[in-house]
Amino acid sequence: MKNNDIMTEDSIVILDFGSQYTHLIARRIREFEVKSEIFPFDVSAKELVSIRPKGIILSGGPASVYEEDAPLCDRKIFDLGIPILGICYGMQAIAHALGGSVKRGEKREYGKTELIIKDKSDLFQGFSDKIIVWMSHMDYVDILPKGFDVIANSENCPNAAMRNKDKKIFGLQFHPEVVHTERGIDILKNFVFNLCECKPVWKMESFIEKTVSEIKDKVGKEKVLCALSGGVDSSTTAVLIHKAIGENLTCIFVDHGLLRKDEAQQIVKTFRDNYEMKLIYADASDRFLSRLKGITDSEEKRKIVGEEFIKVFTEEGKKLGEFQWLAQGTLYPDVIESARAGSIASRIKTHHNVAGLPGWMTFKLLEPLRLLYKDEVRKVAHLLGLPEDIVKRHPFPGPGLSVRIIGEVTEEKIKICKEASHIVEDELKKAGVYDKVWQAFAMVGDDKAVGVLGDKKRFGHIVTIRIVESMDGMTANWVRLPYEILERISNRITNEIPNVTWVSYSISSKPPSTIEPC
Ligand code: XMP
Repeated sequence: MKNNDIMTEDSIVILDFGSQYTHLIARRIREFEVKSEIFPFDVSAKELVSIRPKGIILSGGPASVYEEDAPLCDRKIFDLGIPILGICYGMQAIAHALGGSVKRGEKREYGKTELIIKDKSDLFQGFSDKIIVWMSHMDYVDILPKGFDVIANSENCPNAAMRNKDKKIFGLQFHPEVVHTERGIDILKNFVFNLCECKPVWKMESFIEKTVSEIKDKVGKEKVLCALSGGVDSSTTAVLIHKAIGENLTCIFVDHGLLRKDEAQQIVKTFRDNYEMKLIYADASDRFLSRLKGITDSEEKRKIVGEEFIKVFTEEGKKLGEFQWLAQGTLYPDVIESARAGSIASRIKTHHNVAGLPGWMTFKLLEPLRLLYKDEVRKVAHLLGLPEDIVKRHPFPGPGLSVRIIGEVTEEKIKICKEASHIVEDELKKAGVYDKVWQAFAMVGDDKAVGVLGDKKRFGHIVTIRIVESMDGMTANWVRLPYEILERISNRITNEIPNVTWVSYSISSKPPSTIEPC
């Protein structure tokens, strides 16, 4: 997880104690144009020194400092002279480490609370006497460590904010990173700019410049192979690398026949015409379809698509001669999630990237986007001049329509799924809604329902529409789409697609459902 390569800007390091809000803290700080990186809670003080962050934030987390195996940070970080802010569990971890005491409350305090501010000289600079904050805790700091004083309290929590002024160590029992905390952003800004003295230089323009020059240095005259899917991540990866090394990059686009309508042709055209990129187009749809014949289990489908993808990719790669590098559009949440993977109870679905390549293909990995979030990638893509259609394209699963087709993947179901998804996207674009939602698509299974065509009754497919909003795909809400748009979508699907008689709308959120139906 160490990413010293582009560590020259001022940065804030976040130690992750497992809170659902850890990514949110990182994103907030990046919104200030200051770089922020998440590290495991037990990263050593020595490693932190080598990174030279301007500030450290200890995230919240579900544990209790007194539990056996409670996550605790390296005690030496408190002696580095770097400003530290502990949030919720992070505050308790500070108190515990520095000789204060943490107690279990009688009941969980959850929700909005009034905070009374006692000192406005640092974290609360520019604040009035009271704000509403968001609490979510069971434990609280009962006795402050030596050298600390209280800077804010609430009715239930006498030590709601603490500080050691000399050492610039702070603790907040509430969550400044969530929107429910009034002026939470300003608390974080006071920490990042006034106390840590960061400069706002984490800009995507400089990211591009730096990354291109790093790729040049790293790769030199060697050759890079990139699996291009046409999504914003792999497209941006390819364009960045192409900018750096030109014709020493070759992209392979594997068409598994499970893409969106006309997607393959558009992608090939975009990259060949606009970027003059070396692009191998491998139309392998027949191979995928025949391997998927008779398969109904979704994990089995994923496995087959993944395996076949690797086969086609390596066959095509072999024809091209020697390559030293494999480029991937890995993003920051993937990096963090795989580092956290041990702590994730179970992976619900096996998401595939280009992992699983045969041993003889020994590549070095080039992942120029591994420090970015999706919205940052979109900014980079926009700045690189990628067509808006790619920049704003919704995420699409690697196994494509095979996970949007319930049961066996047949040509008829692929066709229905493609056409219906196209109608959904088209109507959302016309209504100005497409860019506001995370994903929008149609799915189809084997259930049929009766419809009337002319005077005749007949059975046809049921198509289900799924439109969700989400920050990162980890949780999602179904979109309350106006009935008029739903009606237009439904009418078009039943009118334009043969053999579809019913349209339904999925009103399940994640959890308990997932975004893809299988
Ligand atoms: P779920 O269905 O797990 O989806 O709620 C969360 C996000 O991941 C995408 N997804 C996949 N992406 N391979 C991928 O590359 C997969 O097998 C896969 N399954 C789901 C999904 O589209 C959503 O954005």
